[in-house]
Amino acid sequence: MFHLGWFYSKGFGPKAWKHRWAGPESSVRDFTKPDNAVFLAQAMERAGFDYLMIEDSSNVPYTYQGSHNAYLEHSVDTPKLDPTVLATYVAMGTKRLGCVVTCSTTEYQPFMLARKFNALDHVSDGRIGWNIVTGSNDGGAQNYNRDKQWPHDERYDMADEFLDVCHRLWRSWDDDALVLDLEKGVFADGDKVHPIDHHGKYYKVRGPLSAPPMPQGSPVLCQAGGSARGQRFAGTWAETIIAAPRGVEAMKAFRANVRAAAVEQGRDPDSIKLMFLISPIIDETVERAKERQQMRYDDAERDLDFGLASLSRGTGIDFSQFDLDAPIPHLESNGHQSSARALEGKILRDVLRYQRALECVPLAGTADSVAAEMDELMQEVGGDGFLLMDSYHSRRYITEITDGLVPALQKRGLTRTAYEHERFRDNLMAF
Ligand SMILES: Cc1cc2nc3c(=O)[nH]c(=O)nc-3n(C[C@H](O)[C@H](O)[C@H](O)COP(=O)(O)O)c2cc1C
Repeated sequence: MFHLGWFYSKGFGPKAWKHRWAGPESSVRDFTKPDNAVFLAQAMERAGFDYLMIEDSSNVPYTYQGSHNAYLEHSVDTPKLDPTVLATYVAMGTKRLGCVVTCSTTEYQPFMLARKFNALDHVSDGRIGWNIVTGSNDGGAQNYNRDKQWPHDERYDMADEFLDVCHRLWRSWDDDALVLDLEKGVFADGDKVHPIDHHGKYYKVRGPLSAPPMPQGSPVLCQAGGSARGQRFAGTWAETIIAAPRGVEAMKAFRANVRAAAVEQGRDPDSIKLMFLISPIIDETVERAKERQQMRYDDAERDLDFGLASLSRGTGIDFSQFDLDAPIPHLESNGHQSSARALEGKILRDVLRYQRALECVPLAGTADSVAAEMDELMQEVGGDGFLLMDSYHSRRYITEITDGLVPALQKRGLTRTAYEHERFRDNLMAF
């Protein structure tokens, strides 16, 4: 059996709007409401998914052509509302599904983050995860007291200390510190709550946390960076990884690297659930699914500005300077280095046409044929499952996956038909 998750790409922002099956205008206008995510989360829970991962970034990008206009015109990673607010609605609308929220270590302070995830885990009864990111382009840093991002590898050094502080805060109350003895009139035992007095290179935090321990002890930790330093960080901390290598060989190499990094840190590599991104198209016949796949490529080629703006944001490099029909030169990125590396030498127009979606392997077919391909992929590559995604998904797309593809996976005994446990980590680690 393998696990399933959903990568809620473009975060708490617009989903299908100018795209097919976007729904009535009113539902497009309601992109600032939780309804789309809750609809998705409930469908995922029906299908036994492990988690919904809400992506985030918190600035209006302007890397492409030095202007924010293309980003706003095409809704490229903006607007986005605060994902921690959306997570509370997802938690309320579901009972077993995990919800992973993206927060950046260069935008939060450790105490603020530890406190927020403690509260989220309490109100969701132990179903919260944190997608740890460190920031990408300079525009993001400029909303948080800086002119530029910290250097790429140093961001991960800071994140190591950040995580250490968070864990100490999450452990700063003993399990029996909350007394609640109504007769004696004792609420909590001060001797069982401990300041952490952290004085590190980047952070200074007294502690203790201002709330009792959360149901899971700590949020499930998720990570997505694929650079060498990113993988070392993941090997140290991550419990689940979002991976976007392209093709079977790259998937195998990614898995081997992450597992080696885990072993180096003295961890059991099986305690990290590696999830590969896919965006399958499911239809009644293989031909119809392939036709829709072709339409996806054609749409991408028509929407060049969208693709160029998107690449520019992630890498922090203005892609308007490159020839569409020439190989992409060597890129020095202080942003998503793994994404930048994967682009070098490829023809830019091909990248925009065929590789705009973050998918490890393109899949299109009937529910049954795609389920069979997913089975083969897992057997060949190893790994722990898949994260589904479609940045501008419609309700139709959600239903095709959760009520079309997943029953075909279940029939083959590949994914769960009922949750084993109540809490997110327990379900994720169940197999
Ligand atoms: C599939 C994928 C999803 C990501 N999602 C986010 C995100 O939601 N928010 C964010 O700020 N960074 C996101 N990132 C960026 C990484 O988490 C990381 O901070 C960045 O890529 C730099 O790491 P790297 O150079 O190790 O790849 C994502 C990266 C990948 C590959």
